[in-house]
Amino acid sequence: MSQHDLVCTVNGKRRSARVAARTTLVDFLRDELRLTGTHVGCEHGVCGACSVLLDGAPVRACLLLAVQADGADIVTVEGLAPDAEGLSVLQDSFWELHALQCGYCTPGMLIAAQALLNANRAPTEHDIRDAIGGNLCRCTGYKQIVDAIALAAERLRGANLPQRGSDAG
Ligand code: FES
Ligand code: FES
Repeated sequence: MSQHDLVCTVNGKRRSARVAARTTLVDFLRDELRLTGTHVGCEHGVCGACSVLLDGAPVRACLLLAVQADGADIVTVEGLAPDAEGLSVLQDSFWELHALQCGYCTPGMLIAAQALLNANRAPTEHDIRDAIGGNLCRCTGYKQIVDAIALAAERLRGANLPQRGSDAG
């Protein structure tokens, strides 16, 4: 089986590997890099559980070959948090509003939501539902997920406001 060299950046770290041509990106992330936060569900592009950001865009890692990510900048769910112990604003909003039950869809939901928030600081409910429309959740009914993304957007807008008094003087 043919092998290929792969160099990419994953969660800010440069990674190089030699992979079989048929290795999918999700298998590379989970099996080679041990980044098991990215889940495997349907394995044919339907559920969104395997979503990662590739050069800033959400993609389904089960539908890409690892070699297609050569030279790319990848962010997995592990890369959303500020450090190993902390949560991002988005993750904290999911936690606070209990936007999950089994949690299987959660990494993909967080990735889809992060892509939305990176592009749109004031998403409407329609924008949010549209952004997560390709991510299936069998547990929650989506209401808490939509509310958590809206809460994160609101908090991020607040965090980006000028600090009171910072322009004084
Ligand atoms: S596992 Fe990739 S879309 Fe379902
Ligand atoms: S929380 Fe169970 S699939 Fe979404």
